[in-house]
Amino acid sequence: MRIAIIGGAGQMGEWFSRFFLSQGHSVTISGRNRRKCMALSRRLKVRVAEDNAEAVKGADVVVISVLIGDMEKVLAEIAPHLKENQMVIDMTSVKVEPVKLMHRHLRGVKILGTHPMFGPSAESRGQNFVLTPTNAGERKNAAFIKRLLKPGRFNVVMMSPRKHDDMIGMIMSLSHFIGLVTAASWRKLRIERHIKTGSTSFNFLFRFAKSVVDSNPELYSYLQMQVPTVTYAEDVFVKNAERWAKMVREKKKGEFIRNMEELSAYLDRLEL
Ligand SMILES: NC(=O)c1ccc[n+]([C@@H]2O[C@H](COP(=O)([O-])OP(=O)(O)OC[C@H]3O[C@@H](n4cnc5c(N)ncnc54)[C@H](OP(=O)(O)O)[C@@H]3O)[C@@H](O)[C@H]2O)c1
Repeated sequence: MRIAIIGGAGQMGEWFSRFFLSQGHSVTISGRNRRKCMALSRRLKVRVAEDNAEAVKGADVVVISVLIGDMEKVLAEIAPHLKENQMVIDMTSVKVEPVKLMHRHLRGVKILGTHPMFGPSAESRGQNFVLTPTNAGERKNAAFIKRLLKPGRFNVVMMSPRKHDDMIGMIMSLSHFIGLVTAASWRKLRIERHIKTGSTSFNFLFRFAKSVVDSNPELYSYLQMQVPTVTYAEDVFVKNAERWAKMVREKKKGEFIRNMEELSAYLDRLEL
């Protein structure tokens, strides 16, 4: 199959270039920064197109792997060059707005909103991958993409764009928020004095917080500020932090133990 990846030299673009090449597909990439694209083509067997319009010509599947803010410009550029038998999928981390943009710009073309629920350092096996079809045609497209992804052994889940974005606020944005607030608190506490004597739990949390603060700030600011359920999720988190801090300050040992045991039972019932 011929795959075109717009934004192919970016982090996720490179991940999917490797994935599709490993499955024997041919991959053409395009990007804003030609030097970056050429550097990737020296490392991987990808063809570099002159521009986005050229990249989509002759492709069976076009993957849009640019940041959310760059999506509309890309859609306007490629729309006049697409044929009805081609399929366009996006991989942006939110779905309501990008899917609306695809509906607006790509009339008469097969489209599908998707979101790989993992970052560029992940192995593919067992990772969650969300597809967000919105009508019967897109459900057919989703079945096709599911087959294309099959060798990656992803856990493919279908849901509406709205349900996806609601979920993202509670699952992803809240996790990032906790990583950011944790790192900010450590800086205030001058944790560098104790870094070499960290406990197992500290070392575990350190690796998580480091992965958050090292991520793309542009993308992460979007995931904080443009996802509708974030404010609600973060309010719940802050209120719970205050409640637990009060319990500790007032030395309510019985209440603390009871709450901790209840939470252990709650998480036991959830299967990851
Ligand atoms: N990173 C993650 O953990 C992750 C996980 C799942 C999904 N996603 C989604 O995947 C998408 C890509 O994320 P990423 O982390 O790979 O970002 P990234 O590393 O910034 O890659 C985006 C690429 O798109 C290029 N680009 C920007 N405008 C363009 C245009 N008009 N035409 C062609 N290329 C253009 C950028 O060029 P420059 O090099 O010039 O900036 C960059 O190479 C985003 O929508 C994100 O929400 C990311």
